[in-house]
Amino acid sequence: MNLNELKKKAAWAALDYIHPDTVIGVGTGTTIFYFIEALSTIKHLIYGAVSSSNSSTLLLQKQGIEVFDLKNFSSLRVYVDSADEINNHMQMIKGGGAALTREKIIATMSKKFICIIDNSKSVDVLGNFPLPIEIIPMALSYVSKEIIKIGGNPRYRKNVITDNGNIIIDVHDLYITDPISMEKKINSLPGVVTVGLFASRSADVLLIGTKNGIKTIKNSK
Ligand code: 5RP
Repeated sequence: MNLNELKKKAAWAALDYIHPDTVIGVGTGTTIFYFIEALSTIKHLIYGAVSSSNSSTLLLQKQGIEVFDLKNFSSLRVYVDSADEINNHMQMIKGGGAALTREKIIATMSKKFICIIDNSKSVDVLGNFPLPIEIIPMALSYVSKEIIKIGGNPRYRKNVITDNGNIIIDVHDLYITDPISMEKKINSLPGVVTVGLFASRSADVLLIGTKNGIKTIKNSK
């Protein structure tokens, strides 16, 4: 079974966590593409969605799912998104698709974060996947210098402007043993909009697509 088939399995399993008559928080990426397809089959049961990116908004609308403006909501019942890496504490690296800031806003305001992945994304220690950071363009050199001080190797992601008009650096060579303090440290640098470490707001339920079916892990925090 290839990774796309495993992503699809996890995406369809997330439908079990959707409550009728609610607005669903929807993430970004290839796994979420399958989730949006799955969600469209029960669209008559929900009010609609709030979206973490312009690309997901287009996909949702194409499927006839109404997309609401997030600024009119202060909390949501459920957010469904994927991750680039996730550890045993359900802490994640996200932002491979450059949507990390909106993703973190929606994840944080949602009561339940359902993370859907194929089984290649589970790791013991975060950092093999380069850590994305969204930054204000003028802070590029300063933030890069500070990242080098903490042992990272920052690389500017070419030809990418986020939905918020900012740029991304991807930090290689980090071995993140304390994700919560790393998240705080990087977020405190002036010019950083969001770091793609989701440690303070970890996932609540992890659905892993494997060749033997869905593995479900619930966060005991
Ligand atoms: C986008 C993300 C995605 O969740 C992450 O990159 C995983 O993507 P995919 O489902 O394509 O593997 O954080 O910003």
